[in-house]
Amino acid sequence: MRFSSLSLLAAAGTLASASNFKSGEYDYIVVGGGPSGIITAERFIEAGKRVLLLEQGSGPTVATGANETLVWNHTLTDIDLPGLSADVGALPAWDEYLCTDTEGYAGCVLGGGVTINYMVFVHPPEHDFDDNNNWPQGWKWKDLKPAAERLYKRNPGTILPSADGKRYDQGLYNVLSNFFKKLNWTSVDMITQPNEKYQVYSHPAWNIKDQVRAGPVRTYLPLAEKSKNFHLSLHTKVLRVVRSGSHITGVEVQTASGKTEIVSVAPHGRVVLAGGALATPRVLFNSGIGPKRQIETAKKSGINVPPEHEWINLPVGVGLKDHPIFTIMAQTPGNFGIPDYESIVNGSDTKDISLYGKGSGLLTQGKHRLTFFSSNNINGTTRYYQGSCAPESDAVLDITTYMTHGLTSSGVLGINENQTTVIEKSPYLQTAGDRVAAYQFIQSLVNDFNAPDSGFELETYLNTTAIMSSLSPGMHYTTTAKMGTDDGRENGTSVVDVNTKVYGTDNLYIVDGSIHPDLPTGNIQATIMVIAEAAAARILAQK
Ligand SMILES: Cc1cc2nc3c(=O)[nH]c(=O)nc-3n(C[C@H](O)[C@H](O)[C@H](O)COP(=O)(O)OP(=O)(O)OC[C@H]3O[C@@H](n4cnc5c(N)ncnc54)[C@H](O)[C@@H]3O)c2cc1C
Ligand SMILES: *[C@@H]1O[C@H](CO)[C@@H](O)[C@H](O)[C@H]1NC(C)=O
Ligand SMILES: *[C@@H]1O[C@H](CO)[C@@H](O)[C@H](O)[C@H]1NC(C)=O
Ligand SMILES: *[C@@H]1O[C@H](CO)[C@@H](O)[C@H](O)[C@H]1NC(C)=O
Ligand SMILES: *[C@@H]1O[C@H](CO)[C@@H](O)[C@H](O)[C@H]1NC(C)=O
Ligand SMILES: *[C@@H]1O[C@H](CO)[C@@H](O)[C@H](O)[C@H]1NC(C)=O
Ligand SMILES: *[C@@H]1O[C@H](CO)[C@@H](O)[C@H](O)[C@H]1NC(C)=O
Ligand SMILES: *[C@@H]1O[C@H](CO)[C@@H](O)[C@H](O)[C@H]1NC(C)=O
Ligand SMILES: *[C@@H]1O[C@H](CO)[C@@H](O)[C@H](O)[C@H]1NC(C)=O
Repeated sequence: MRFSSLSLLAAAGTLASASNFKSGEYDYIVVGGGPSGIITAERFIEAGKRVLLLEQGSGPTVATGANETLVWNHTLTDIDLPGLSADVGALPAWDEYLCTDTEGYAGCVLGGGVTINYMVFVHPPEHDFDDNNNWPQGWKWKDLKPAAERLYKRNPGTILPSADGKRYDQGLYNVLSNFFKKLNWTSVDMITQPNEKYQVYSHPAWNIKDQVRAGPVRTYLPLAEKSKNFHLSLHTKVLRVVRSGSHITGVEVQTASGKTEIVSVAPHGRVVLAGGALATPRVLFNSGIGPKRQIETAKKSGINVPPEHEWINLPVGVGLKDHPIFTIMAQTPGNFGIPDYESIVNGSDTKDISLYGKGSGLLTQGKHRLTFFSSNNINGTTRYYQGSCAPESDAVLDITTYMTHGLTSSGVLGINENQTTVIEKSPYLQTAGDRVAAYQFIQSLVNDFNAPDSGFELETYLNTTAIMSSLSPGMHYTTTAKMGTDDGRENGTSVVDVNTKVYGTDNLYIVDGSIHPDLPTGNIQATIMVIAEAAAARILAQK
């Protein structure tokens, strides 16, 4: 159930009589069952803690309660099948799972964005954490490497998912890799050579394991579920944390029936927010944590925010970042097209389906056919770019071109009186440096495509200006509750300290994309998972 009617909420604002919760018995209440929440909850379980994981959405896999399976395989839903991920926007799951309570894109389903994303899995390079001072001491690559290794052991990603060791539908890869080879770019394996990010191309790395969509719902959750100390409650939305001054005593939740109730943590318990960069700020505003104006709006929406003398003035929402996407399309001399998704869904594509039954073939692969990376330098600032290349139609190539790590723009996330988080200031191309750098990078690609002997011809967006104006959200939002040493209560920019604890609180932590002080060089999900691994260890180390 989504947050529907506030008047209904107000009317139902009493304690439920028959609660499913063991209020007062949880060492940790984790808010949000996306990748960061599941990983953190599972590591707390391994440490012997009693954990309640609260997720507002439903379970997307058969094991977690989904019952709309493929007509030809009753153990799988359509979002599990890698071969359908390219078409995820056309599946019923898209409308069902996409959040309606945030302005940007996020998944409101167990697994969060990882449940409905395009499965691009970029192992972060070391420079993401080390090449500027945005990540604080204690969060440099040398500190994060063990966390990354823990993640990759369980959720490694793959550039070769088909069990027979073959790659399928390589027409696009062949023609485009040849194009880059002629430009003297280097062929790399983006999983084993994550630090190579200048003029390189690779077979795409996907979040796939055992021929199905991977991610913490498959690679961590089952481990937690073995423990009697683990409790997962779906269809349960946290409205706010309940606190007495700096001490968090529990959370107010709204369950599927629309009823609200308060669930307490154990006396020395902690609350960990993992709702994602677009949703965690709502919980903070509703709890009297953030800029005054946002808390006042939250109060107007009917939430029982604490009295004003308890408000903690922190720059929540300020600093929102995302990767902008620019779309480049070109007619190519290649031989490729897009699969007939309808015949995969309805079971008539017997050739690919029977190969899939043997763990192989086209349906084990994700959307893209080639991924490239590069960078440029404007006045001493290096900005990185990623191109995720997929078929658009017969012989037509679509490049999702991201400007990534090094960009200097940021925006602001707030909330409206309907409890929807809103982007008050766009995070895209706010600085002259970003605009100049993006223009220059795109222009260089345009020149290469327009070279007389390239064999490529731009389509739809015919020049750099048109490509720049195709700008769309990268959906890799971060930095709405930034981690750092400059305490936001004292004019600093940070909302959480280097132990991921919210300034001004005794026992409230954040582990999701909100706290990342910077964007990674590639698609973000692997980085989200690495940081969650590291954050869980930091939190457990706090006595
Ligand atoms: C459409 C789409 C495509 C993407 N494609 C890619 C890609 O190909 N590769 C890549 O690397 N990244 C991709 N991303 C980004 C990636 O999926 C996200 O960055 C990642 O999922 C963020 O993880 P998170 O744990 O921070 O938050 P989320 O994934 O947003 O998870 C937060 C979870 O918390 C729940 N929640 C929030 N608030 C509450 C509350 N108050 N009470 C209870 N539950 C709550 C939500 O329902 C959700 O399940 C994509 C994202 C989207 C939306
Ligand atoms: C499938 O799940 C939905 C949502 O949980 C439920 O309403 C429906 O009854 C289920 N259908 C079957 C056939 O189990
Ligand atoms: C690629 O390298 C070769 C050999 O060094 C050189 O002759 C050629 O001009 C280079 N091409 C481009 C596009 O830089
Ligand atoms: C499945 O979809 C294909 C492609 O749209 C169509 O040709 C075929 O008739 C459909 N088969 C069934 C059984 O619906
Ligand atoms: C159905 O999916 C499972 C993976 O969950 C796989 O092991 C099995 O081979 C698939 N069967 C067919 C017929 O595709
Ligand atoms: C809130 O919702 C109401 C009713 O749907 C709508 O009229 C109003 O414009 C919304 N307010 C905001 C700030 O979006
Ligand atoms: C780069 O530096 C020069 C010289 O200081 C300046 O004129 C120019 O505006 C700068 N460009 C950008 C994009 O900041
Ligand atoms: C750029 O391309 C667009 C179409 O994509 C076209 O409308 C516009 O006139 C072009 N501008 C220039 C300067 O060529
Ligand atoms: C914060 O900055 C404002 C405006 O610059 C100033 O008035 C105030 O004293 C500063 N507060 C602290 C705690 O530094």
